Amino acid sequence: MPVSAATAPTGGTDQQPPGDLRERAAAALIAARARTAALTDPVTDADLTAQHSPLMSPLVWDLAHIGNQEELWLLRRVAGREPMRPEIDPLYDAFAHPRAQRPALPLLGPAEARGYSAEVRGRVFDLLERTAFEGSTLLDDGFAFGMIAQHEQQHDETMLITHQLRPGGPVLTAPEPGPATGPAPSAPEVLVPGGPFTMGTSTEPWSLDNERPAHIRETAPFWIDTVPVTNAAYLAFIADGGYGEPRWWAAEGWDQIRGHGIEAPLFWYREAGQWLRRRFGVVEPVPADEPVLHVSWYEAAAYARWAGRRLPTETEWEKAARHDPATGRSHRYPWGDADPTPAHANLGQRHLRPAAAGSYPAGASPLGVRQLIGDVWEWTASDFLPYPGFRAFPYREYSEVFFGPEHKVLRGGSFAVDPVACRGTFRNWDLPVRRQIFAGFRTARDA
Ligand code: AVJ
Ligand code: FE
Repeated sequence: MPVSAATAPTGGTDQQPPGDLRERAAAALIAARARTAALTDPVTDADLTAQHSPLMSPLVWDLAHIGNQEELWLLRRVAGREPMRPEIDPLYDAFAHPRAQRPALPLLGPAEARGYSAEVRGRVFDLLERTAFEGSTLLDDGFAFGMIAQHEQQHDETMLITHQLRPGGPVLTAPEPGPATGPAPSAPEVLVPGGPFTMGTSTEPWSLDNERPAHIRETAPFWIDTVPVTNAAYLAFIADGGYGEPRWWAAEGWDQIRGHGIEAPLFWYREAGQWLRRRFGVVEPVPADEPVLHVSWYEAAAYARWAGRRLPTETEWEKAARHDPATGRSHRYPWGDADPTPAHANLGQRHLRPAAAGSYPAGASPLGVRQLIGDVWEWTASDFLPYPGFRAFPYREYSEVFFGPEHKVLRGGSFAVDPVACRGTFRNWDLPVRRQIFAGFRTARDA
């Protein structure tokens, strides 16, 4: 894929968000903490300290890690304060202890973890009121505050994954998204014309290091699914014996499904000839028209191959999501530069599930591609790699240490992603075997 210098073409620069950044920072921090509370208040202390899966930390670890990162970046790095509790730092360093070992650490208990994170937050609000958004790369545009709000929201999604993995009845509630309303998509796939577009961003104030800088990429023309692959479509792959047919599978994917006896998405099981799934403690029939969720990259790629198609590359995904062929500009979102509203996308854990495929016509791209933002993270074909001109900021451990062929890129965000941590340029990544994340996919083909 040809990649040019890190400059945007005339008329092709990405756009800046509206609004006052200090108010945005305060509101984003408050919203994140409200969600953290909603995820942890209804759970008993025993449940908060239990490890529900070796893939996940106990919830009480996330609770204090959120406060510890906030203290580290805002109170120490930005404000130059001394550590509040230096002895706890190693406990909450994600690189010091793998998740499986965290329950054995002398972690802060639930009350202490809440108290510590609340004390940090009180000091951060004082700082936010008194600090100019200028003078350093961490402070320009209030980046460090935006980064910390995104970090808490990312851990809120992680905690929601832990909720999905915990045994027992439901403790979370949310209204149903309801059936798709408005005009149905007119065709199952959309043709995206070939040519250059602007990928990544150099102007989005709270974009993270791996989204930068804006640069030009070329694509050949390609077709992409109008909506994510649904459970009904995925069930046809299962019914056709897709999990028993090695030719659809990459060798490592085949080894994984055989080795673990995998024959359906995670949390699905079959009873009396019907496919059921467990979702946040509720067992229900698999809904036909909902985007498929909890499949690995290997499962997504195998389905695509069975369907005579392929996963879109990350570049194709972003072009479908941001490029307006009429103007040649790349927008912040498929629908334009305005921040997401509930009419555009299913974000922010407003619902505890994806909305039916074909929902959110107001969130469509200029070419009519739907639900690129929200509902399910979408696996792409691509390895997680730096853009030309990438510079690690503010720490190598956010992105740089994960670059390489072992991680695959996911795009678009799920129903569990807050708008502050989701945009057309946002990049997520995970190992291709992972299934507990809120990931589905759409397919593509060469034109
Ligand atoms: C970008 C979602 C892969 O959760 O591992 C949280 C985000 N980085 N704390 C993760 C993150 C540091 C990260 N992902
Ligand atoms: Fe973290």
